[in-house]
Amino acid sequence: MKRILLLGSGGREHALAWKIAQSPKVEKLFIAPGNAGTSKVGENVAVKADDFDAIKEFVIANNVNMVVVGPEDPLVKGIYDYFKADTALRDVPVIGPSKEGAVLEGSKDFAKGFMMRHGIPTAAYETFTGETLEEGKRFLSTLRPPYVLKADGLCAGKGVLILNTLEEAQRELEEMLGGMFGGASSRVVIEEYLSGIECSVFALTDGKDYVILPEAKDYKRIGEGDTGLNTGGMGSVSPVPFADKEWMRKVEDRIIRPTIDGLRQENITYKGFVFFGLINIDGDPKVIEYNVRMGDPETETVMLRIKSDLVDLLEGVATETLAQRKIEFDPRAAVCVMLVSGGYPGSYEKGFAISGIDDVEGSIVFHAGTALKDGEVVTAGGRVIAVSSYGESKAEALAKSMNEAQKIDFKGKYFRRDIGQDL
Ligand code: AMP
Ligand code: GLY
Repeated sequence: MKRILLLGSGGREHALAWKIAQSPKVEKLFIAPGNAGTSKVGENVAVKADDFDAIKEFVIANNVNMVVVGPEDPLVKGIYDYFKADTALRDVPVIGPSKEGAVLEGSKDFAKGFMMRHGIPTAAYETFTGETLEEGKRFLSTLRPPYVLKADGLCAGKGVLILNTLEEAQRELEEMLGGMFGGASSRVVIEEYLSGIECSVFALTDGKDYVILPEAKDYKRIGEGDTGLNTGGMGSVSPVPFADKEWMRKVEDRIIRPTIDGLRQENITYKGFVFFGLINIDGDPKVIEYNVRMGDPETETVMLRIKSDLVDLLEGVATETLAQRKIEFDPRAAVCVMLVSGGYPGSYEKGFAISGIDDVEGSIVFHAGTALKDGEVVTAGGRVIAVSSYGESKAEALAKSMNEAQKIDFKGKYFRRDIGQDL
């Protein structure tokens, strides 16, 4: 029986915890640090997701026999390698890539080089540093607008700038290389602009074989009709209509398999989720980015659409027997609507009481930024609660989420009513 420790505290982790807790293979589920929602499906533990020494102590004291990593931070910092290097932890599987594998997300320049080496379709690019600033400016002058500049390292989702004029692009390049994002922008990738609809595809790999999870589309802008500032994600939908059998076959043949094979050829240990941020260009998929974890808020619909036991698949990853396991999808559509704090993604207040969660019927409420204060659930972040629903169609799932989202209330609550309607 599995005693699982899940690391993280957002809506993604509540959705993972919800799915893991349904498995008959689970004896105990801990979430570190978790949120008010995860405490309903498992036991929250007051340990930070990147405090490796505290995690070690907890794993040993509580006989944890599998660690599932939600966010990228602990992976990029090397939690997989930390476990492998420790005689007391070595046999506890960590679901996630090694530090070397996490560089697929941790360095845009590495990811682009990897795709070039393995013939994986992506936007044309060049990488520049402080020393090559002038060359970078000259390179920009050879491109047509809009200009895409990407900080090489992790910037909490803020490291990509899309600019309309050459002057702006050259100025921003200089600022980025001058330390706008600290060390994360000491290298900058300048990329060809791609125009198309985005789609998030996920695979789970044991390093040799893989299963492909349900795909999803997320909605990043704060305003309806995809307007206004970028956010951490205002909702998601699965399935994505253009990701039909033929398109997914292209994704598998041109992107997923070459990625998994490429990792193995380069001796990069990778046993975990791979997130392919794709864009559809006239029927052909290209990679916008890799992430080494599940997406948020995609997970809040993807988990609804996995019919199989997720823990059985995770066991397959841990024991490198994924080839013997199958993933089955739920044929229904799923839509997630994110309720956010007033003012988000700008400044907002926290600590407001949340009412109505228990009135929700038939939808699944995933907590993102919530906390328990004196026994009461209060807002504790910009993205507060995800309301996920099934439907026979996307429209039905959306209508259900809309209906249930009205029942939950907190001061300043805002949500988009158009999730999935563009597809
Ligand atoms: P990333 O952090 O690489 O996912 O980039 C953030 C967002 O910027 C993506 O989700 C896209 O919407 C956009 N983006 C990134 N690269 C490109 C590109 N080459 N062309 C057009 N849009 C892009
Ligand atoms: N939804 C995009 C991400 O998780 O990065």
